[in-house]
Amino acid sequence: MTYDAARGTWLLTTPDTRYLLRTDPDGSPRHVAWGTPEAVAAHADAGALTSPGNANSFAGDGVADELGIETGARFGPAGLQVRFADGTRGAQWGPAAHEISTGPDNSDGHLVIRLQDRRYPLSAELHYRVYQDTDVIERWTVLANDGHEPISVGRLDSAAWSLPRLTDYRMSHVVGGWNHEFQPRRGQVPVAETVFTSRRGLTGHQANPWLAIDDGTADEDRGAVWSTALAWSGSWRITLHRDPSDRVTWTGGFGHEGIGWTLAPGQSLATPVFAGLHTTGGFGGAARAWHDYVRRHVSPTPHEDRPVVYNSWEATGFAVDEAGQLRLAEAAAGIGIELFVLDDGWFGGRRDDTAGLGDWQPYPGAFPQGLEPLVEKVHQLGMRFGLWVEPEMVNADSDLYRAHPDWVVHTPNRDPTELRHQLMLNYGRADVAEWAHQWLDQLVREYGIDFLKWDANRAVTDAGWPGHPDPDRLWIDHTRAVYRIMDQLRADHPRLRIEACAGGGGRADLGVLARTDQVWTSDNTDPVDRLAIQHGFGMVFPAEVMAAWVTDSPNIATGRTTPLRFRFHVSMAGALGIGGKLTEWTPDELEEAAGFVAQYKRIRHVVQHGVLYRPSTEGRSTAVHYASADGAEHVVIAWRTATGFGLPQPLVRLSALDAEAEYYDVDRDVRISGAVARTGLEVELPGGDYGSALLHLRRV
Ligand code: DGJ
Repeated sequence: MTYDAARGTWLLTTPDTRYLLRTDPDGSPRHVAWGTPEAVAAHADAGALTSPGNANSFAGDGVADELGIETGARFGPAGLQVRFADGTRGAQWGPAAHEISTGPDNSDGHLVIRLQDRRYPLSAELHYRVYQDTDVIERWTVLANDGHEPISVGRLDSAAWSLPRLTDYRMSHVVGGWNHEFQPRRGQVPVAETVFTSRRGLTGHQANPWLAIDDGTADEDRGAVWSTALAWSGSWRITLHRDPSDRVTWTGGFGHEGIGWTLAPGQSLATPVFAGLHTTGGFGGAARAWHDYVRRHVSPTPHEDRPVVYNSWEATGFAVDEAGQLRLAEAAAGIGIELFVLDDGWFGGRRDDTAGLGDWQPYPGAFPQGLEPLVEKVHQLGMRFGLWVEPEMVNADSDLYRAHPDWVVHTPNRDPTELRHQLMLNYGRADVAEWAHQWLDQLVREYGIDFLKWDANRAVTDAGWPGHPDPDRLWIDHTRAVYRIMDQLRADHPRLRIEACAGGGGRADLGVLARTDQVWTSDNTDPVDRLAIQHGFGMVFPAEVMAAWVTDSPNIATGRTTPLRFRFHVSMAGALGIGGKLTEWTPDELEEAAGFVAQYKRIRHVVQHGVLYRPSTEGRSTAVHYASADGAEHVVIAWRTATGFGLPQPLVRLSALDAEAEYYDVDRDVRISGAVARTGLEVELPGGDYGSALLHLRRV
């Protein structure tokens, strides 16, 4: 990270990219260039003159602020919106100051640009962090009120990102809903403002705060891609602006329409990180770089093998009791499961989803002696014990709600909205957050819980905080409190592991992944649907955080019947788990399952810590290829959902193999030439629909 005083530019350096910015004469930090070292060097001398936002821009088109403000001839989305007590809006910055610091051995660099409004006691810090081991640039903003009167903050984005002029602009993102999260979408960026958002108080099933832009020519293996991801698990908004002069910027941060925050005198407000990445290796290269970043700088447990999980939800629903769970636990241990998770239904008066949420005591009708006997037995069987919780929610039919109706998010004089018969607790209130932390801590301590599946099955509606002078802050305060509680639990119980879940994959983002070990990817466990879901999930998130269960067939979501082998091969591409009714599986099925679990344990270091390639295939098939970091071991999984007469076996191009090397197929005892496999390895699938195969290769 360097500052060039003569040109007034800051240059951020990552291993393979550069990012150049400067302050314009009006005091606003402006983007100059972001891309390869060569591309950015071409801008170094010209600085602001060739940057977007130069003085010749007509009527403000093309202004590329590092953080858009509302003043001046700016007509794009403003990432900073403030109003002072006298009614004046927006900021006008004076001369910027800055500070550059570096971590031990230059492992990271941190630039802070300090801005002070020319006439009002408002200051902002734009933060940039780069690391020696990733091309991801982390950015965030801190706003402070240095005066004596409150300042109203309508919006405070983490960062705005800008692109060089491209021949065209294409956006890639994911959309979906419950049971069909992470569906990839790719299309031209319109000359318009395109808004990606969640208004739900959760990251959301419908969109994810990840966005990639290319010029329309990038593919899986080639091409320049600029992508960004926001580390936030509440409501968020990213506005992508392609203006008529064909410049593209996007600004993003927490909150949707507005954050409605009052910044009291002496207070500051810090945003979450909005991380950006430029890569030239296509969408596959971008995904690999994000996975690597998550492992190096986000995940609390990047080097740990994720255990093979058993989860009771699809098997027993709410009908859980000690005897039934013991039978499942025995069957689970018998096929090699390492972590047994008791899902919903174990507490309060919970027999279905209408009652009991909030009453976190074991249900005496189902667990007359509490959870101890089950926990003990699970531990005796050599498995860890995990428990489902939904700490942010309450049923109206619960002792908690009867005692504290004022604890829920609600608006006075408006009918409350129940979703899944539940209301949402307001963790913005210190007493509510403290209550949650207290019972969670006690639960983990008392029962020796190894794993929490932290669920959240409804969105925020009717957001209100009666009696609070600044009720809108609940949107941010709630998410921050969830983070604080998770962080505290982890600090106090170092062996505790947490799975993030929100009715499936409604809370998957870089913010929650900083304090959880995996994500429940989707309630949809149909293996065919899962292939698309897992593909979209993998755009940013690595395989070890992608929880994937094998469940019963026909699948409860789709009614589709698939072979056990196919179901396993789909789940073995992530963090394998089982969610079927094991007590009803035949001895043959259990034996087959045990074989796959054992095989997964032999390959999981490659799947969970390796590098993902999504090879091109032929013959109506898809495949993934995981390579160990040293290139010595490889796992290839191929699937074909529908066969056809005369279809040849799929040719899978393993371009990540070394053409000079030979590989040993561990399970088939044959040798494979790297050169041949690079042009296309014929993978033998069984006949019929839903054929799949897994290859485990070792470099000779
Ligand atoms: C939604 C989760 O995604 C499911 O796996 C399950 O835990 C249910 N909630 C329980 O209510």
